[in-house]
Amino acid sequence: MSDRLKGKVALVTGGASGIGRATCLLFAREGAKVVVADRNQPGGTETVRLIHQKAGEAHFVQVDTSNATQVEGMVRQTVERFGRLDVLLTAAAILIITPPLAESSERDWDMTMDIDLKGVFLSMKYAIPEMLRGGGGSIINISSVSGIRGNVGSVAYGVAKAGIIHLTTIAAEQYTAKGIRVNCVAPGPVDTPQMRGSTGSTEEFRRVEASVPMKRAARPEELANAILFLASDESSYVSGVTFSVDGGQRAAAK
Ligand SMILES: NC(=O)c1ccc[n+]([C@@H]2O[C@H](COP(=O)([O-])OP(=O)(O)OC[C@H]3O[C@@H](n4cnc5c(N)ncnc54)[C@H](O)[C@@H]3O)[C@@H](O)[C@H]2O)c1
Repeated sequence: MSDRLKGKVALVTGGASGIGRATCLLFAREGAKVVVADRNQPGGTETVRLIHQKAGEAHFVQVDTSNATQVEGMVRQTVERFGRLDVLLTAAAILIITPPLAESSERDWDMTMDIDLKGVFLSMKYAIPEMLRGGGGSIINISSVSGIRGNVGSVAYGVAKAGIIHLTTIAAEQYTAKGIRVNCVAPGPVDTPQMRGSTGSTEEFRRVEASVPMKRAARPEELANAILFLASDESSYVSGVTFSVDGGQRAAAK
């Protein structure tokens, strides 16, 4: 264990799987007390078990991040359990592949906006007062390369992910002077259940990988490393940025 987050309390939404889980494990290795928040209880308790196995400290909270009462409870339980809140990672999201705009449904739009955009807003809304009480903090939101250059696979997902970038900028404007740094990570394809689900077949997965200059999807741990930098004091002069972690995909965009 190293000590880049020693003494800090981190809350990770979407901690049951993929990028969220990899980040929970890394945060705990770096000395943070971690609250693993997710609607998936078996996955969340497994993340906690993996942390405990390495002698780290973690606690699971079941939450639907689109529900304000539950999100408020998630933050309250974090402070009750570990006394403070220093780091928030908002990784909970869904990706519903939809037909082009005119054929896509209002239901898919609403569900995606509720979880992927409102869920991030609510998590920040309830976390910020606790961070202010503790003297500051670091918030890391997860957008996507789809939030920068659109996404043919889902209208609502691309718009929600673009919204997260704007939400990050606005929150950074409002809270950096008060000691809270707010940043965003924009991943390209990452080998997680979400990407395996959205690509549907091994063939399509390989096609997406081939579209990246590095010719592969990221490992979730590669995202966790970037997120750790933004969470820790190593990025003490960084706020309001969107950090692309995409194998060069954005640079290669036509
Ligand atoms: N995998 C990729 O290729 C990729 C690319 C760009 C951006 N992202 C983003 O990275 C983040 C993490 O994605 P991932 O690939 O690790 O996905 P994942 O599906 O492995 O994990 C997402 C987690 O969020 C949880 N979740 C979903 N809805 C929730 C809700 N309403 N309340 C609480 N928890 C909820 C799920 O249970 C799951 O554990 C997401 O914001 C995703 O959009 C992923």
